[in-house]
Amino acid sequence: MARVFSGIQPSGDVHLGNYVGAINRWAHDQRPEHTYCIVDLHAITAGHDPATLRAKTLDLATWLLAAGLDPDVCTLFVQSHVPEHAECSWVLECTATMGELGRMVQFKQRAEGRDTVPVGLFTYPVLQAADILLYHAEEVPVGADQRQHIELTRDIAHRFNSRFGETFTLPRATLPPAGARIMDLQLVDKKMSKSLDSPQGTLLLDDSEATTRKKLLRAVTDSGTEVRAAPDKPGITNLLDLFAAVTGAEVAALEQHYDGKGYGAFKGDLAEAVNGFLRPVRDRHAELAADPGAVAEALRKGAAKAQEVASQTMAVVRERVGFLAGTVARSPVE
Ligand code: TYM
Repeated sequence: MARVFSGIQPSGDVHLGNYVGAINRWAHDQRPEHTYCIVDLHAITAGHDPATLRAKTLDLATWLLAAGLDPDVCTLFVQSHVPEHAECSWVLECTATMGELGRMVQFKQRAEGRDTVPVGLFTYPVLQAADILLYHAEEVPVGADQRQHIELTRDIAHRFNSRFGETFTLPRATLPPAGARIMDLQLVDKKMSKSLDSPQGTLLLDDSEATTRKKLLRAVTDSGTEVRAAPDKPGITNLLDLFAAVTGAEVAALEQHYDGKGYGAFKGDLAEAVNGFLRPVRDRHAELAADPGAVAEALRKGAAKAQEVASQTMAVVRERVGFLAGTVARSPVE
């Protein structure tokens, strides 16, 4: 069984892209050797409000538990609770190059149009590499937008291993069969995103069923009436992908089923399917949100489990890099 690591930023509301691209698979495939992380260190790279970050971190944990992640099965924790992530990131920054970080598409997109670019936005993928490598992950279940970062992680790990001896496992990204890149419902050439200012185009887990329905019925579609996936029909193609992701149906079977039925019937059924898919998760979130102490306790246990692994990896890294052996002060997570 492969060791798995993945992460999600608490930087905004969780949307359906996050859910079908990543979270849903985490919950379905979870095992003791799987580690899932709320990456709060990653969420301070581009300006944030401290109180909001704290609240969003707890709320994201609540959503992940509501989705079915079971802290007695897998490990679920908050990145800043395990300081080895920041330490490992520094060591890896001395392995990564300016050139390769400058080629990261996500960096270029996020830096575009800013007067000043925080250094953390640039080194962000190195911290992501540290996250993955600390746990010797072989597989990283993510959406398509993260593929380049996982490739970079492999390159960094390979370079480190060549210089200092076999230390890190080379990971690979795994993508879902459908829903690897859900697009915004209004701006069909942009991926659905926490940072995109498109409230009508972003389906939130937190939306009511009525709002979900409204957003899907108003989703931008293409001229024509045919429910068919095609390069010149990005709107309908995206909705078909979403339908396939929430039902497990094949796109070809959906096309056949909606042949001649038009966009209206298709979108109405899609809204039913999405609401049905999210209903148990939304209900469970409402229950769990009433007991934030229990969520915090699950995170505390998760951090202790994660740190056991991360601290062992860092002990090897320190030795390989040539740091003088000594006593490392630990932050008390237990
Ligand atoms: P983040 O927080 O942006 O997204 C979390 C997960 O959701 C996926 N995703 C999508 N999938 C399909 N369609 C979309 N429109 C969509 N939008 C987001 C993402 O691919 C991701 O799997 N850098 C990462 C967080 C991270 C991480 C890691 C991930 C930090 N360390 C280590 C894996 C391993 C990010 O910003 O994800």
